[in-house]
Amino acid sequence: MKILITTSPGLEQELQKELLELCGKTASFRPQGPLELEVDINELCLILAGSFLASRVLYPVAEFHAWEEEVLFKEIYAIDWQNFFDKSYKGMDTFRIDAHGRTGGCDYTVQQALLKSKDALVDKLRDQWGERPDVDKENPSQHIEMFFSDGKVEVSLDLSKEPLHRRGYRAQLIGEAPLRESRAACMVRMSEALLTMPAKIYDPFCGGGTILIEAAMMLRKIPPALLRAVPNWKFIPGLADSYRKTVADLKARALPSSPIPLLGSDISKGALIRSRAAAERVGVKTDIILEHKSFQDQEIGEGVMISNPPFGERLGDELDAQLLLSEIGKKAKFKTQLSSMTLLLPTEYETAAGLRPTRKLRWKAGPLALSAVKYDLRR
Ligand SMILES: C[S@@+](CC[C@H](N)C(=O)[O-])C[C@H]1O[C@@H](n2cnc3c(N)ncnc32)[C@H](O)[C@@H]1O
Repeated sequence: MKILITTSPGLEQELQKELLELCGKTASFRPQGPLELEVDINELCLILAGSFLASRVLYPVAEFHAWEEEVLFKEIYAIDWQNFFDKSYKGMDTFRIDAHGRTGGCDYTVQQALLKSKDALVDKLRDQWGERPDVDKENPSQHIEMFFSDGKVEVSLDLSKEPLHRRGYRAQLIGEAPLRESRAACMVRMSEALLTMPAKIYDPFCGGGTILIEAAMMLRKIPPALLRAVPNWKFIPGLADSYRKTVADLKARALPSSPIPLLGSDISKGALIRSRAAAERVGVKTDIILEHKSFQDQEIGEGVMISNPPFGERLGDELDAQLLLSEIGKKAKFKTQLSSMTLLLPTEYETAAGLRPTRKLRWKAGPLALSAVKYDLRR
């Protein structure tokens, strides 16, 4: 079957590499869209259970051309929604549709297409079942993604339901700036710690611990979907069983402890408490040593540093980003034996640490332009 795999913008190339490692297949890029891959059920389960970088796995249900709103309505109405929706379990499914792309040359906008498509879906199920599904923008049980490329329309069902980067190990935080799990995982991959096995991994601004938890899971080969619900789609026979088997096989191959010590520190006691709780939920608490210390006081020896230091706009004015980054650069260069440092920082500060980036990935987090930058420190 053909699937589409989405990730946070900027992570596509790393996701392509990860998919190759997982399934031995090269997913193809689509302009400004998800990656596309032909998979069997085992490969689908490997991606759902084992991808650290994917956000969603989509199953295309229709592809057509619609220049007019009326044609769009008819095509969406023609889809066999009853195959995908459920009205038996806890009542009728709820749904949300998200749309992306451009509708150049069409007699509708993306926003109008969304409304029209919602009407067509609701009409179809009401005509068939006598009941209509409700829209739930926050917590729908069905999530539909539409991609518009001028007259071309693709409609997909989200097989992952909740985004895959929501691993489920951390509590919901209000007003904090935790790093998205898939981005933290991407930084770990960029550091090459999984290949080079450095003496230690440090995160001296560890906050809720996302980077170290992702690193511990990756080093121990713990499936990132460990705490997630089992996907169960009746139109993919055997999916739930196959998925359970995949997770069990992955768990059986996981290492009992991390081959590399992971060291986290932070000036916030609250963040360290949350870090510990999150690490415990996913079973990596004993792999991560946490200390209540400032970066300035933390001793950093051999190994690599992967970190997401504070910068004004995200966490209030804790420190001036420019000054902090130059302090980090000097310490890394002259007072540690680090072989590399991978930082997440605002794009305009890529060289503020006074070091030359050896690799960088740029991405957006809301209105912020961020860069994940690796600095090689081997002298
Ligand atoms: C952007 S947050 C890190 C978020 C973390 N990656 C996560 O996913 O939760 C930056 C952290 O740096 C900490 N911090 C600020 N100044 C510090 C300093 N001088 N030394 C150590 N930690 C500091 C803050 O308490 C905050 O938890």
